[in-house]
Amino acid sequence: MILFQLLTVFLVLNISLANDCVKRTYTADSFVCVCDADKCDTLDIQKTVEPGYIAIYDSDQKTDRLDKTIVPVGQLKSRIDQTKNNQFTLNVNVTDLKQKIVGFGGCFTDGAVINIASLSNDLVKSLMYDYFGENGLEYNIGRVPVGASDSSTHAYSLDDTPFDFTLSHFALAEEDTKYRIPLLKVAKMLNPEFRAFASAWSSPTWMKTNHLFHTAGGLIWKPGDVYYKLWAQYYVKYLNAYLDQGVKFWGLTTENEPIEGTRGLPWGTLGMTPEDIRDFVKLDLGPALKAAGWGQL
Ligand SMILES: *[C@@H]1O[C@H](CO)[C@@H](O)[C@H](O)[C@H]1NC(C)=O
Repeated sequence: MILFQLLTVFLVLNISLANDCVKRTYTADSFVCVCDADKCDTLDIQKTVEPGYIAIYDSDQKTDRLDKTIVPVGQLKSRIDQTKNNQFTLNVNVTDLKQKIVGFGGCFTDGAVINIASLSNDLVKSLMYDYFGENGLEYNIGRVPVGASDSSTHAYSLDDTPFDFTLSHFALAEEDTKYRIPLLKVAKMLNPEFRAFASAWSSPTWMKTNHLFHTAGGLIWKPGDVYYKLWAQYYVKYLNAYLDQGVKFWGLTTENEPIEGTRGLPWGTLGMTPEDIRDFVKLDLGPALKAAGWGQL
């Protein structure tokens, strides 16, 4: 909570727009730009350009990190030809539309949120601003692990009481309430377009064939049966619990890396075949979400 209160003053921060990279070499032929509480380079953002011009940001291995230049469109070809030795041509057919991109973002894993919270408050502010803020990357998507993921300090689910068929012991973890939720709220403050979606790595072990978080295993029995119905209710509880804490999810996936879960991994997994997922959505998850007022899947 303290973290959250400190972070709520974000929007009045005077973010410095200095864009000088403080280089630190980390391999013989490449570098990073150091960000600390005193100094951090920011993107020299160009929201619009005059008609007929284009803003280009160059990054490469040895010299540039998002180095901006503005050139007339006519010079674009010669510029590409010069820098890349005539290696490619860029054709854009603006009437040939493919899929829409909803946005770009990152994952609020335990590893990410615990590490971010360990920084000084000033650094947390500038880091979050750089990810989500108007002059930062403007990330607008956040993936949120349901329970432990592969960067957690320990394996857990949100209901580890064996055979709790009413899910009455379901509860968010400290990782959610203390770290993840405050940072999700900051992301939303910094970018009103921000949307979060949830993904589970493993269900509680007592719902699983292998009784373990890791290795190959799935939910006991089949879609439409009691364990799949429980797993759907677990998602509903999760969405509602986050809503109670002021975070409304935009979406969820059925599972993180479901096929890997059928092969087994050394961290939390839940194996499902494409057919399992199809039937789970149709028979269990869709109806459960709909009944709980979470839209029609
Ligand atoms: C651009 O895409 C449209 C729609 O797919 C197609 O009909 C048209 O031939 C394309 N134009 C060129 C120059 O490739």
